[in-house]
Amino acid sequence: MTALQALRDQAGVQPGQRVLIAGSAGGVGTFAVQLAKYFGAEVTGVCSPGNIAQTRSLGADHVIDYTREDFTKSAQRYDVILAVNGNYPLLACKKRLTPTGTYVMVGGALPQIFKALLFGRLLSFGSKKIKALSAKANPQRPGLRRQPPETGAIKPVITQRYPLEQAAEAMRYLMQGHAAGKVVVQVAPE
Ligand SMILES: NC(=O)c1ccc[n+]([C@@H]2O[C@H](COP(=O)([O-])OP(=O)(O)OC[C@H]3O[C@@H](n4cnc5c(N)ncnc54)[C@H](OP(=O)(O)O)[C@@H]3O)[C@@H](O)[C@H]2O)c1
Repeated sequence: MTALQALRDQAGVQPGQRVLIAGSAGGVGTFAVQLAKYFGAEVTGVCSPGNIAQTRSLGADHVIDYTREDFTKSAQRYDVILAVNGNYPLLACKKRLTPTGTYVMVGGALPQIFKALLFGRLLSFGSKKIKALSAKANPQRPGLRRQPPETGAIKPVITQRYPLEQAAEAMRYLMQGHAAGKVVVQVAPE
């Protein structure tokens, strides 16, 4: 729901647009890559080297290894930048938007979140938009009307499963900040 609300409701992604997902390998990012492709965008994922193959397998057209390249310093511009993880300076991201582009802050490091919340409106003067998402559990526009027939269903990427009694361990793993997809805590046996 977070990825859907960011891409569809905040950014209004259109077919053919260039979309960058900063943090393509985590719980939100793995859905964001698939949904951006579903909406017909040209997708660039940003992740560490170990997750490049995964981001590509989810449909990303381009992948940037953030240990080697800083997308905020390249010449490429994007119609939509989704800041899901990491800490990319707001003004540098704004410069990488097309003249009518939209930046949506979803999460990441605290400075990134606070700056988007505090300065988003101020920096939205002009045609570029800076937004911060607060995802709703029960939104008015809930899901997708149809599944993408040509690519199959959008799939959750599950990286680890823990039984309920190991929920604390699951949280510790998640808090390391490098979960490659969703972490499941299984409440009852299948
Ligand atoms: N706004 C909202 O309503 C809302 C809703 C849900 C979640 N959130 C927030 O959104 C963020 C993402 O949630 P999540 O569930 O996806 O988290 P997550 O699954 O814990 O994210 C882990 C991922 O972050 C990636 N990552 C870490 N440092 C990075 C960097 N410098 N650049 C790019 N990627 C990096 C890691 O990839 P590598 O291992 O490749 O580094 C890993 O795959 C969190 O801050 C969460 O609190 C916000």
